Amino acid sequence: MAATQSDRKNKIFLFLFAAIVVGLALYFYASHFDFTLPTGKHRNWQKLPILALASLLGYLATRFLNAALFDFAFRIRKRYEAPTLVRNIFTLLAFAILFLLLFKGVYNDYDLGALFTTSALFGVIIGLALQDTLGNFFAGISLHADRPFQVGDVIVVTQQKLTGVVESITWRAIKIRTFQNHIVLVSNSLAAREAIEVAPRDNLNARLAFFSTIYTDSPAKTIHVVRESVRDADNVSDKITPIVRIRALGDSAIDWEIKYWLDDYAKYNDTDALVRQRVWYALRRNGLTFAFPTRTLHIERNVPVRPITAQDQIADRLSAVDVFSPLSTDELRQLAKATAGHVFAPGETLIRAGDEGSSMFVVHNGRVAVQVPDRAGPRTVAELTEGNFFGEMALFTGEPRTANVVALEETEVLEIGHAAMKHLFETNPSLAESISWTIAERQADLAKGSASAQPSIQETAGLLSSIKRFFGLH
Ligand code: CMP
Repeated sequence: MAATQSDRKNKIFLFLFAAIVVGLALYFYASHFDFTLPTGKHRNWQKLPILALASLLGYLATRFLNAALFDFAFRIRKRYEAPTLVRNIFTLLAFAILFLLLFKGVYNDYDLGALFTTSALFGVIIGLALQDTLGNFFAGISLHADRPFQVGDVIVVTQQKLTGVVESITWRAIKIRTFQNHIVLVSNSLAAREAIEVAPRDNLNARLAFFSTIYTDSPAKTIHVVRESVRDADNVSDKITPIVRIRALGDSAIDWEIKYWLDDYAKYNDTDALVRQRVWYALRRNGLTFAFPTRTLHIERNVPVRPITAQDQIADRLSAVDVFSPLSTDELRQLAKATAGHVFAPGETLIRAGDEGSSMFVVHNGRVAVQVPDRAGPRTVAELTEGNFFGEMALFTGEPRTANVVALEETEVLEIGHAAMKHLFETNPSLAESISWTIAERQADLAKGSASAQPSIQETAGLLSSIKRFFGLH
């Protein structure tokens, strides 16, 4: 701050000094010059120093006017900071007018209009000499009119592979400060031709980061863990929740992308690094694994593929299911052997209403919703969690599925087929009865549209006999 103030003082001092020197030089030369001679008596070159000195003084005056107008009047009255290009155009125009007036004053016998209109050579020379400059100048004007970006925005000049923060836009070029703290000037005419990617300062700009996990890691868990670790990282905006999604199922890994929005886009290098660091720690804490190129060899030994969890665990889970509680440990083991485990992502449909079905499911981990289609969209009639079962209605009655069953979170289920149940019914006749109660209750719920409606004894008895018939039992 102190440095800029003393800079300003130095500038004013220099300005006054230059004006005084030029003024004095003009005064001395003009006082030795005899203006009383009729025009034309002096040789033209003798008047040149007067024109040069007067122009220099004129230039200093325009700079003074520029500063007075834009630095003081505008900023104080309107709190408006004029763009550099506007200031430069002002200086250029003011000086051009002043110069023409001075020229007319010194060489009053020349007709300037005629000089400009008649001299084609003059036009060609000026045109050729100023080709680039004028190109930049007009491109600069169009940049200011369009305002595709402003000072403080991050821009990427795609062809040039240049990225940086815009520091100023002058009549000739755009000044960019790169992330290596270098200054790069991109000429306006180049900027007008090239594709420029703009990340405006007052906009929520997004970034992407990538990582890969091994195939055995749960996608739902990965999404949760990574999203939570990234969302409160410094400079990650809390206005939009970061998105974590699968980009590809690669050869040896699940490829992920994280999309997050930044408060200050100009700091994206630091934030990208922080996000990657957060991902590393989050994966490590939660037992998830970064993937690296791997090959999995499957050696087949004619052993049926085992369910996803150990058999004893499955038997434990089945023993906690109310209808299976009367089964002996042996029968539970047999049943566990006959089950197949499946895992579903949140939102996945496990059962669709109207489909054929010949198996039932026990929720091993997670939560599902039982939904029936309604005019206003799907209506949830029940939520089932660990130890609950579903899908028994189609399995035992042979009717189509009565409802949709949708995973509410990552859910593992154990599937029990027709053959396994038939075997159990033969050794445990009471099982069919308790299941028929559940079915009757659920049918009553569905019919009345509300939970916990009570079925009648006759309904249950009818159901039991049709189950027995369906399974070929006596
Ligand atoms: P199924 O008809 O084979 O397929 C849909 C399943 O949703 C159904 O078997 C039941 O297991 C389950 N279901 C239907 N209605 C209810 C309910 N009211 N409460 C709990 N589960 C139900």
